[in-house]
Amino acid sequence: MSQELIERAKTIMRENDKGGYTVPTRGLYPFQWNWDSCLSALGFAHFDEARAWREIETLFAHQWEDGMVPHIVFHAEDEGYFPGPSVWETGRSTPTSGITQPPVAGFAVRRLYDRASDKALAEAKARALLPKIAAWHDWFFATRDPDKTGLVAIIHPWESGRDNSVDWDAALDRVPTEGVMPFSRRDIDHANPEHRPTQAQYERYIWLVQHFRRLAWDNAKLHDASPFRVVDPGFNAILIRSSSDLAELAQALGEHGLEARARQQAAAGVAALERLWSEELGQYRCFDRAVSRFVESPSVGGILAAFADIPLARRKALAKRIADLGERAQFVVPSHDPATSVYDGKRYWRGPVWLIVNYMIADGMARSGDHATLRRIVDDSLRLIELGGFAEYYDPISGEPCGGDCFTWTAAMVIEFLTHMGGPT
Ligand code: GLC
Repeated sequence: MSQELIERAKTIMRENDKGGYTVPTRGLYPFQWNWDSCLSALGFAHFDEARAWREIETLFAHQWEDGMVPHIVFHAEDEGYFPGPSVWETGRSTPTSGITQPPVAGFAVRRLYDRASDKALAEAKARALLPKIAAWHDWFFATRDPDKTGLVAIIHPWESGRDNSVDWDAALDRVPTEGVMPFSRRDIDHANPEHRPTQAQYERYIWLVQHFRRLAWDNAKLHDASPFRVVDPGFNAILIRSSSDLAELAQALGEHGLEARARQQAAAGVAALERLWSEELGQYRCFDRAVSRFVESPSVGGILAAFADIPLARRKALAKRIADLGERAQFVVPSHDPATSVYDGKRYWRGPVWLIVNYMIADGMARSGDHATLRRIVDDSLRLIELGGFAEYYDPISGEPCGGDCFTWTAAMVIEFLTHMGGPT
């Protein structure tokens, strides 16, 4: 069974491979996405290490001069996607979007390096990527944490990677829609509209893009000028984990200046994350920086914090949260708590399970030796695949596969679960 699943996963990855980059899925997402590529590289590493490195190299070939790594690289024209390059207008020779995504590259590159069988290749590739990833992290702390709080804000819901989460509702409601360009969405041509964001949300997403475009994508201005500024524990946990992994990698490569800076960034982040803890929810939650208010929303962003080296007591509390959620859902970890009225098991990031999120939480649990939680997450994830194939995401109660099909990072995570996370029971 496992071998058959691995073969199916490899086939999907190969089919979505465009040469130097993979598309998340054909049709719905026809370009290169930032965190998709970094996590997908882990899957490639199982059968083609050179190809795994290439995935991340291609992404970083499109890093901006200021250090930002964009959330989408539009390698080829495709009319089937909105908003395309003419909406972003970032002025790059290969067009890119103008916002970023969860910085998981530091983690992925360390993992590729540690596991590499071709050590010479790994050393050369990691050495070249190291300063680029460090520049991206420095960019985050400089432009998205101007007051030096230790935590960075996202300025568009799409930066979070959890695009349509309940966490953004109140902040997004403050984003105006006056003057938004007329547009026709393409996502609902490829996926069920009931699974996708609403039109009102989409108008605000596009308003923000137009607003940033008017500011010429100058990252020295965008943070303060954005009406949407939210500090997400999941996003920050990924940055913190990537910073500590980058420090380890820098140490192994004898880059001691980079090592010290990355360690300091990770330590400041871990300490600052504590401010997002909610005793009442038993997990972390977002902070709406634009209005200085916590977002009391029990979403998976606050559980994903387990990916960073948070205190053991916090990891244990998060494991308890997952066990509680597991009472209400057949399959953990739902992106929103089914006990809330806003939960929607099929709509984008408002309830469904994503395998990449499961993977990062499971990895955090493994680091603190919580094998029971790890087991539950791996078992549920693999059951979802057996029942519904390699979908974009799944309903946590019925297990129904939703969104796009034949998804690259889902396939990559299946390979990881089967080969490195204990496999099936
Ligand atoms: C959606 C997801 C985002 C992902 C992208 C491509 O926009 O919300 O996290 O990167 O699809 O898979």
